[in-house]
Amino acid sequence: MSRKFTWQEVGDNAKNGWIVIGDSVYGPQGFLDSHPGGPAVIRNKAGKDVTRFFYEMGTKQYMKQGHSQNAQDILKSLKIGEIDKNSQPAKWQVDSDQRLVAITSVLLILAIAFLYFYVLRK
Ligand code: HEM
Repeated sequence: MSRKFTWQEVGDNAKNGWIVIGDSVYGPQGFLDSHPGGPAVIRNKAGKDVTRFFYEMGTKQYMKQGHSQNAQDILKSLKIGEIDKNSQPAKWQVDSDQRLVAITSVLLILAIAFLYFYVLRK
């Protein structure tokens, strides 16, 4: 059985580069300098859930397939345990999809403009 870590523990180990992908916790410290995308992209997201980034970014990002099978094999070797599902992530640890925020904002602005021109100006 693999070790379970709480979100709190993952956050405390952000300095050690710990990340969460799916239900698993990874310690990619030793791999950071050989990451083809550079160490910073992973380090900047340490302590967080990076599932979406892993599966959407990488050399196949334009095909929305994210990282290669090879990358997934490397990932497997970096696994240190699993996330304790009874623990709650802090707000900063959850992946907030910025695109969703952007699309919602644009739609909201369009709705207000529509309301102004067609309803309120009559
Ligand atoms: C421990 C987790 C990770 C591993 C093992 C890993 C591994 C790899 C590998 C082997 C490649 C080469 C291309 C491929 O095989 O798909 C790659 C490329 C890349 N990775 Fe990661 N990666 C990890 C996490 C991340 C994260 C969290 C991000 C973004 C936040 C990221 C962004 C990228 C990008 C942008 C490239 C493309 C670099 C280029 O070709 O210019 N990776 N990664």
